[in-house]
Amino acid sequence: MLTDRIDRITPSATLTMTAKAAELRSAGIDVINLSVGEPDFPTPENIRLAGKQAIDDGHTRYTPGGGTMNLKNAVVEKLARDNDLHYETSEILISCGGKHSLYNACQVLFQTGDEVIIFSPYWVSFPDFVSVTGAEPIFVKTDPSQQFEPVIDDLKEKITSRTKGIIINSPSNPTGGVWNDKTVVKVLELAEKADAWVFSDECYEQLTYDRPYISTAVLGENTEKVLTFQSCSKTYAMTGWRIGYTAGNNLVIKAMGKLQGQSTSCPNSISQEAAIEALLGDQSEVSIMRNVFKKRRDFIVTRLNAMEGVHCDIPGGAFYVFPDFSSYMGSDRQIKSSNDLSMYLLEQKAVVTVAGKAFGSDNNIRFSYAASDDDLKRAMDLVEESLIELE
Ligand SMILES: Cc1ncc(COP(=O)(O)O)c(C=O)c1O
Repeated sequence: MLTDRIDRITPSATLTMTAKAAELRSAGIDVINLSVGEPDFPTPENIRLAGKQAIDDGHTRYTPGGGTMNLKNAVVEKLARDNDLHYETSEILISCGGKHSLYNACQVLFQTGDEVIIFSPYWVSFPDFVSVTGAEPIFVKTDPSQQFEPVIDDLKEKITSRTKGIIINSPSNPTGGVWNDKTVVKVLELAEKADAWVFSDECYEQLTYDRPYISTAVLGENTEKVLTFQSCSKTYAMTGWRIGYTAGNNLVIKAMGKLQGQSTSCPNSISQEAAIEALLGDQSEVSIMRNVFKKRRDFIVTRLNAMEGVHCDIPGGAFYVFPDFSSYMGSDRQIKSSNDLSMYLLEQKAVVTVAGKAFGSDNNIRFSYAASDDDLKRAMDLVEESLIELE
C-alpha cells in the first residue's frame, strides 16, 4: 500500500524516547528525561514579545515561500556578525526549522546512484534524509578520543566517483564533539577534489565551551559548494517556533525554495517576525545559556567518569554527552546492547536516555544535559546505583 520511499525511513529514536517518557509520566512515575534535544530554558522574553506583536501587527498571512525579505536581511546581518560569512539575500532560504532546511537540500541535490558521506556517530535524521532521496548513506568512522573527528584514511577510502555530498555536523549531536579547524580544512579539501557538496549543519554553533566556533565555509578556500545550515531552535530556545535557514549557492537556494513553495508554502509568518528579533535583538541570553550548559557539561562528564567502567571524553559543544558503556555489555550478559542499557535505566530508575545504536554506535548512550541541575544530579546518582546493581 505504501511507497518504497516511506519504507526507506525509520521513526526518530529520540522522538520515540520522548513519547515513552511522557507515557511513564502520565502513569504517575517521576521520570527524569535526559533524552531531550532542546534547551530547557524558555524562549527569551524579547523574542516572545516580538511574536505577540507580530500577531497584532497582522503578520498572519502567507509570506514568500523562501521567507520574508526582512528575515533574509536579518540572517545576512547575523551571519556576517557572528560567523564572518558574507552572503546576499538571494543566497539565503528560510525554512520550517533546520531539519526542514537539511531535508530540502538533500531533496534537491541527491538521487538514486549518488553516495553521501555521513560521519558516525551521526544525528539520527541524516541517514533518513539521504535514503529517502534514493541516494546511499556511506558511513565514515570517527575517533572518540579526538572530539569524534573523522578518521581521514577511512574518509579517503569511502570517497568514490559517486560521492555527491559530505555532511558535517560540528558541534555534533549526539557526541557534542567539536572538530579542530585543521580537520575541517582536510575534509573540505577532499570534498573539493571529489567535487562533492559539503553540508555544514551548524545548529549548535553558539554552543561551544572551550573556544569560539568557526563556520566551515570560513575555513575553506573555495566554498562554492559549501552549504551552511543554522537554526533559531537551540541558540534561542525556539524549537517550537520552527525557523531554520540555509546559506549558499543561489541555484540550490532557488531550487529549495521551489520545493518549499510546493510543500509547506512558507515558514510560519509570526515565527519569522520573532526570528528577526532573535537574530538582531539583545544576544545576552545566548551567553547566559552557554555558561549554564558549560557548568552542566563539566558536572556530568565528571560524574560519568567517576563511575566504574564508564568512559566519557569532554565534548566541546552542544548539550549532549555520549559515554562508552561497553564494559557493561556482552553477548552472555544481561545487557547485550545500548538498547538494553537504555531500557534498563528507564525501567529500573525512570531515567530516560537514547541508545547509541540509533546514532550508529552500540557501545554508547546519549545523555542530554538540557535539564535542571537537580535532575542531572539525581539522574547521575540513579545511573551510578543501577550500574553497581549490574556488576
Ligand atoms: C544535528 C541537528 N541538526 C539539525 C537539527 C534540527 O533542528 P531544528 O529543525 O529544530 O532547527 C537538530 C535538532 O535536534 C540537530 O540535532
